[in-house]
Amino acid sequence: MDGDGVAQGGRPGRAHMKPLHIGSLTIPGPFLMAPMSGYSSAVDRAIAREHGAHACLTELVSAKGLVFSSRRTRSYLQRAPGEDPFWVQLFGGEIESMAEAARIAAAHGAEILDVNMGCPVRKVTSGGAGVALMADPERAAGIVRAMRAATDGRVPVTAKFRAGRDREDAAAVAFGRRLEAAGAAALILHPRPGREHHSGPADWTLVRRLREAVAVPVIGSGGIRVPEDGYRMLEETGCDGAMVGRAALGNPWIFTGLRARRRHVPTPAERLAVVLDHFGRFATLVGDATTAVRMFRARALFYSRGLEGGAAYRAELVRVREPAALEDMFRRFFGRAEQVPGYVPGHGRRPGED
Ligand SMILES: Cc1cc2nc3c(=O)[nH]c(=O)nc-3n(C[C@H](O)[C@H](O)[C@H](O)COP(=O)(O)O)c2cc1C
Repeated sequence: MDGDGVAQGGRPGRAHMKPLHIGSLTIPGPFLMAPMSGYSSAVDRAIAREHGAHACLTELVSAKGLVFSSRRTRSYLQRAPGEDPFWVQLFGGEIESMAEAARIAAAHGAEILDVNMGCPVRKVTSGGAGVALMADPERAAGIVRAMRAATDGRVPVTAKFRAGRDREDAAAVAFGRRLEAAGAAALILHPRPGREHHSGPADWTLVRRLREAVAVPVIGSGGIRVPEDGYRMLEETGCDGAMVGRAALGNPWIFTGLRARRRHVPTPAERLAVVLDHFGRFATLVGDATTAVRMFRARALFYSRGLEGGAAYRAELVRVREPAALEDMFRRFFGRAEQVPGYVPGHGRRPGED
């Protein structure tokens, strides 16, 4: 029962799958996986790319962690095999440590550096990083300039930011212009206020306004649930790239669908093969098998979204400890799981709330 997606909504439209140019680099198309902390490891990025994502970003990596040589932080600088470009997102509120972290990340092979200027989590904003930078455009611009200088202008620097801090503060357009003037090679806009975290509507008109206000590429991030949304974002806003966040969790097939311009509903066999492959590679990445099982649980929940019989699966999942038991569970569940008819990947919902 393959999708009734784009065709049902009419023609896919005039948006072409144009390459995305960032600095001197060319990404073959516009559909990217959004950085998501906890879900953007080298393995998650590889799985997304193998299903059609044109590029992925790492999750936010602490500049201070890199500078103080935390082993755990440096482990985030792992490039997936064949990952091209290797696009690393850094966070920090201090110009000096962001510049130094840029040098370290570039030495680890980063080809594009992104600055997180959108994260609303207190642990991040209390250090002046994430969305706190939107309150201090001068420092935000200083960070972009310093990161470029630290890498001799060889590594394009992008920035990902929000509509503003709250709904009244639609600062994104002026902020984006400021970053462009500081040398940002592309701008990524998640058009929700920081205060709203990930709930509420994404305001695509703001993406359009930013697109009209700057010359560098603009990438929209927010509100894509099914492939036709990706094309609609490109068309309605004129943006150059479209990022998929939550709808890609446990659902790399959204990228298959974006490439094919129609929804792709995986067969049970396809689902089983991918979840086993994802877990196997993730366990190798993590090293310790029991830790890998624990860390994979949330991913395993996402894979079950929208499938019949999910409640029993979820109850079993919280008890499983051993890789072999987890794989056995996957075989029993995904080997025959059918999609709930008409299911659309959820937004603003946590796994289990489908
Ligand atoms: C679990 C989770 C983790 C996230 N982590 C990051 C992050 O590390 N860096 C970042 O810039 N944005 C992060 N985001 C925001 C996403 O990149 C994206 O902009 C947002 O989810 C909106 O897109 P969506 O509606 O397609 O999910 C995260 C979002 C989620 C749900």
